[in-house]
Parts: sequence; C-alpha cells; structure tokens
Amino acid sequence: IRKMQDLDLQGKRVLIRQDLNVPVKDGAVTSDARIRASLPTIKLALDKGATLMLMSHLGRPTEGESDPAFSLQPVVDYLNKALDGGVVLATDYLNGFDVSSAKVTVLENVRFNKGEKSDDETLAKQYAALCDVFVMDAFGTAHRAQASTHGVAKFAKEACAGPLLSAELEALGKALDNPARPLVAIVGGSKVSTKLTVLESLAGKVDQLIVGGGIANTFIAAQGYNVGKSLFEESLIPEAKRLMQAAKDNNGEIPVPTDVVTGTEFSELTPAALKAVDSVDDADMIFDIGPETAKALAAIIKKAGTIVWNGPVGVFEFDQFGEGTRALAMAIADSDAFSIAGGGDTLAAVDKYGIEDKVSYISTGGGAFLEFLEGKTLPAVAILDRD
Ligand code: 3PG
Repeated sequence: IRKMQDLDLQGKRVLIRQDLNVPVKDGAVTSDARIRASLPTIKLALDKGATLMLMSHLGRPTEGESDPAFSLQPVVDYLNKALDGGVVLATDYLNGFDVSSAKVTVLENVRFNKGEKSDDETLAKQYAALCDVFVMDAFGTAHRAQASTHGVAKFAKEACAGPLLSAELEALGKALDNPARPLVAIVGGSKVSTKLTVLESLAGKVDQLIVGGGIANTFIAAQGYNVGKSLFEESLIPEAKRLMQAAKDNNGEIPVPTDVVTGTEFSELTPAALKAVDSVDDADMIFDIGPETAKALAAIIKKAGTIVWNGPVGVFEFDQFGEGTRALAMAIADSDAFSIAGGGDTLAAVDKYGIEDKVSYISTGGGAFLEFLEGKTLPAVAILDRD
C-alpha cells in the first residue's frame, strides 16, 4: 500500500477521507480526539503543497437529506481555530468547484449524498473526479465499504493510505501479528453477543483473555453461580463454556471474578455492596469486579508483554462501580508492555482515569477496531492494494 508520506503532492488536488465523526452538542464539538488525531495528516499535506480537500461523515443522517443537525460546520469551526483560519465548508461539490480559493475545503457530510452508504459507483466517480490523489486516512470508518471510503479509491487517479491509517494498522499489527508475549487481551462491555466474534478470535491468539462487565456475568453464570438480576445472556452460556475450555486447552484459563460489587438498580444512587461471587442474591445486579479480582487481574497485566484493551469491566460512569476499571487502567498505565486501547467506552475510561499518556497507542476506531480484533479484512484498506 502506498503511503501519503512518500508521494509528491505539490500543486496537486488532494482529497483526504478522514473520520471526523465526532460528538456535537449545540453546534460545538464535545470530544475532539478524532480531529486531533487527524491534524498531523492535514498539516503534512499542506506542508507538501497540496490543494486540500477533506471529507467525512458525521452521525447517521437519513441518506440523501441535508439535515443541518448533521452538518460538518462545527468541525470546520474547530479546524479554523486549530489551523489559524482558511478552512471553508463546501456544500455543493459533486460536480466540481473552485478548490484553489481556500487553504482547506471540507466537503459537507458525505452521508448527505445519495448512494454513499451503498458504495454507488456514480457517486464514487464524482468524488474521484475532484482530485488527483485520494488519501484514505479514516481508520475509524475503514470497516465500511462506502463510496467515500472504498468506491472512490477504485476510481481515483492515485490512491494511498494516510499517516493516521498507517499508524493505526502498524500499532494493531504490532499488538496482534507479532506481539511481545505474553499477549493479554481485556474484553469488557455489556454483552457477549456483540463481542462473540472478537472473543472467539482472540481466544485463539492471546496468552490470556480477561473478560469484564456484563460479558463476565455470562461467564459467572456459566460456572453455575447466581447472578441475580444482572445483565447476562443465558443463551450464550454454552459459548462461554466453550471459550473457557478453549482457553484452558491453550494454557490460559479465562479468570472469572471471585468477588463482585453489586447494586439493586441501574442508578447513580444505588448503594454498592461488595460480595463474594457465590453470595450474589436474587435482587442483586453485578456492576463491577471486586478488589480481590482486580488485584488478580492487575498481576496478570503486570506480566504482559502486550496488552489489548477493549471495554470497561464495570459501570464506571457511576463512581461507586468504577474501581475495577480504574484498577485495570492503573495496571496498564504502570506496565512496560506495548499497550493498545480502542472503542468509545474504553477511551472514555482512559480519559476519566487520566492514563492517556501511559497507553502506547490509542486507536480512533470503534467498530473498525473491533473488526480488526475479529481478524476481518477492512474493505477500505484492502482496496488500496489495487495497484
Ligand atoms: C464510528 O464512529 O465508529 C465510525 O465513524 C463509523 O460510523 P458508523 O458506524 O456510523 O458507520
């Protein structure tokens, strides 16, 4: 795959697909992590003398409708501050426009265009016609085969990977393809069903798989313990058992919590109670791992050569159920291992516990990060191999 860094962009019309899909409230960006991660690419393209266009989706508007609630204008406002002005929004661009008049032109939300999500060829050709070089830099959207991520790369005169995409692939490759061992993966979150493929794929790859959050509840139930009113998936108990056996055969048993923190309703106000895993009552809901479990998991993390983290191990947004996730975050922060974290909730936890500078690589991908962990090919990356 060709890299933007290696290309001559002087005087060329360069179209970069970024993932500027950030949360917006009252017309302002509320979390700028993805924009910050995209800035070095923009600056490099400008330094290389490109005539620059950026494109992205934002949210999930009804396709083909220009809904102002999903406009990229707040992102343009942000970029104007970050780049000292010269950034404009283009709303009418599909049939060509005068791109040289601004320092950076941001094309309005690609999902306002009919055919974007279905990877329509006519639309992809229209994007391709706008540029001399297409740069795919949206790792967070690389799992989507859509006109602005996939189709355009087929038809552009030249297509390459941007620096952010390259860095993401390199970091993930380092963690999973040729890791320093032991390789430890922490998979938390609420449901086994949404992460089953990830768990299956990782179970065969890692030296130690740690499960947390609602996912762990299904594993606790699989061991025959009462989980009370906790979120768990009864139908997936056989899967949990199979994964535990597979891990055992692979010499890395999946540790099931020995103590848990419970509440009686999903609320910020519910009091926390620490219980042994075999003492959960019918009215209880498990919301976090207990300190004994956290200590045991921290010891595993301490010995790791590589750590992959996706998903919190408790309802950390309520402080009384955040200690388990905090303990794991601190163990990752203290570790010398190569560590990588990804996924929306995980990044919120990284933020809350202030370990941003202590994680080796923080991915901008949510769904794309998960699909990579599942071992799937990312279509918008694969298409860059076209020549
Ligand atoms: C994300 O936020 O995971 C990406 O930007 C992809 O967004 P989508 O799930 O709406 O395609």
